[in-house]
Amino acid sequence: MTTYIDALISKYNKPKSGGPLDSSPSMTGSVQVSKPNTLETPTPKEIDNFKLSSSSFSSISNPDNKDTKNSFDANSNTTPITKLDFEKSFETKPTSQISKPTQEANNQTGDINNLFKMASIKGLVEEKKKTEQTDKQKQADEQENFEDYVLTKKSTLITKFGSAEIYRVEGEQLLYYKIPVPKPNPSQKMIINSLKEAATRLISTDPYKIRDPTQRRNIYYQKIIEILENTSEINIPKHMFDFYADAVVKEMTGYGIIEPFLQDDKLEEIMIIGPKKPVYVYHQDYGMMTTNVSFYSDDDIGEIVDKIARTLGRQVDISNPLLDARLPDGSRVNATMPPASIDGVTITIRKFKADPYTIVDLLNYRTLNIEVASFLWSIVEGFGAKPANLLISGGTGSGKTTLLNVLANFIPEKDRILTIEDTAELQLPLKHVIRFEGRPPGVEGKGELSLEILTKNTLRMRPDRIIVGEIRHKEANALFTAMNTGHDGCMGTIHANSARETLVRITSPPMNVPILMLAGLDFIIIQKRLSTPKGQVRRITAIAEVTGVLDNDPKANIIFQWNPQTDVLERTEVPIHYFELIKTYTNLSDLDIKTKMQERVDILNDLVKNKVKGIKNVANIIQGSYAASNKMDIKI
Ligand SMILES: Nc1ncnc2c1ncn2[C@@H]1O[C@H](COP(=O)(O)OP(=O)(O)OP(=O)(O)O)[C@@H](O)[C@H]1O
Ligand SMILES: [Mg+2]
Repeated sequence: MTTYIDALISKYNKPKSGGPLDSSPSMTGSVQVSKPNTLETPTPKEIDNFKLSSSSFSSISNPDNKDTKNSFDANSNTTPITKLDFEKSFETKPTSQISKPTQEANNQTGDINNLFKMASIKGLVEEKKKTEQTDKQKQADEQENFEDYVLTKKSTLITKFGSAEIYRVEGEQLLYYKIPVPKPNPSQKMIINSLKEAATRLISTDPYKIRDPTQRRNIYYQKIIEILENTSEINIPKHMFDFYADAVVKEMTGYGIIEPFLQDDKLEEIMIIGPKKPVYVYHQDYGMMTTNVSFYSDDDIGEIVDKIARTLGRQVDISNPLLDARLPDGSRVNATMPPASIDGVTITIRKFKADPYTIVDLLNYRTLNIEVASFLWSIVEGFGAKPANLLISGGTGSGKTTLLNVLANFIPEKDRILTIEDTAELQLPLKHVIRFEGRPPGVEGKGELSLEILTKNTLRMRPDRIIVGEIRHKEANALFTAMNTGHDGCMGTIHANSARETLVRITSPPMNVPILMLAGLDFIIIQKRLSTPKGQVRRITAIAEVTGVLDNDPKANIIFQWNPQTDVLERTEVPIHYFELIKTYTNLSDLDIKTKMQERVDILNDLVKNKVKGIKNVANIIQGSYAASNKMDIKI
């Protein structure tokens, strides 16, 4: 098997005429020195850190040196490689000054030295390139540094939590989110890359095998400190250990400089829109914000995309420039690259909520009121007779999936639930759930698992409930077939802004559901994200009941309508047809139905009053209420 070191040797064993210092990251691609944002000349101290050992360097070029492990610190007599002009200015250490590693540490320090060497060689080439950059270009780069630009303006600190600060910047429409960003200079970036390389090689534990992220970070941090302590050759002062260990850990166990965003629970979305542009974040309370984080090049963003794609066994390149995926923590991620996104590589991350919203949260946010919550609970449960088929409609990020998750928690635990999603986002604390996730075709165009295939398959699995995360294509047909063939309690979300638009979308290409089939649908819930003087809010703005199809025309009545003046979702005058249906299926009277709904209002009131938190706790109380009414039934 060719080892990393074998590869290194063969790389540097090229004919001398071709020049040994190949700056292209051809071998592993991992020791890349991306062009720095602020182009500083290394200080004499930094340069000192990169002194090359002529003896070890020349040994790399020895084609006869078979002992790969010891070749780098051996006293070799082979002809030194011709140095490039810029390299000559760096003095070489006499071999005698190089401390000999102990037998035990031999392999480790040998490897690390080589990795550092490689990084420094590349670094030197980069340095050369850098000095060639014209002053004009430098000026342009500086102007693109958004942080500097913002800091020249008057800014007011609005809030601070942990190390993050939010500012209002004079003349800017968006707030500014600032986190401490280690901005390594080119030399430091080289050390970080080399340390990362060394650590990747020397730490055998796969990061994803240590499930707890904090524990994972701590273990890696400790290992990197050990590496730094055991490699005095690289001359890193002790007070810089934390800086380097922190930077390397961020890159190894997480997603580099965007890691702090992933840790902030208040951020809903992280948006990288290309190189040299600020990363945007969407904050739960303050909406869209710019940040002081930016990436210098497409390569830097590409490193994150590669990392995501690799862990999923996927590939993103010119022929597959789009990626839809889920991070190990459950966050939904979309990445695009040229030629699809013409201005560069982009990443959009919809953050996973470890503790998902419950009905209590939505009530507190006033997305809906208790009466409507009780109504929705009752139609999802179905009065023990006919759970309603419903769709949640709304725009992007209006909270459709969140509402779907909240409503699905009203499904009685006795039901068998099958969920189908493009990217698994639903989190149901129920026992009998089978989750399906679609998959795009592979590189050869095979292996696609479309939502349509998955939805059709669920029909053969004796489902009580079918939940399709987001309906977009032909899976709509499969879902409506289920609704029309006695599978009650189906649910899904759809991008549309009104009940009418929802019906038109379902019956138009590419969904093409026959109009007659719309009769299988009972309710459409419209949710919107609204901008108010107090910030962004999410509201259910209407609930429509689909009462059937007459003369090829689907009928939908608005039974609840949000009043923008009072910010209340009000009951309209239109009678609710569904209750009539329930009465035909059961022996419940109007009063019984009312009483049942009032019981649920009381439970919801209790949940809010007692500030019950956590999806499991809320689910326990909801499911407990079913168990209690079952006991009553048995008594009767
Ligand atoms: N009622 C709500 N109140 C406050 N925040 C909410 C509410 N519902 C959802 N959110 C937050 O809004 C963000 C978007 O929510 P969600 O993923 O449910 O939206 P969506 O409509 O399904 O988006 P998409 O169209 O991208 O699928 C999430 O970060 C979520 O935590
Ligand atoms: Mg969604």
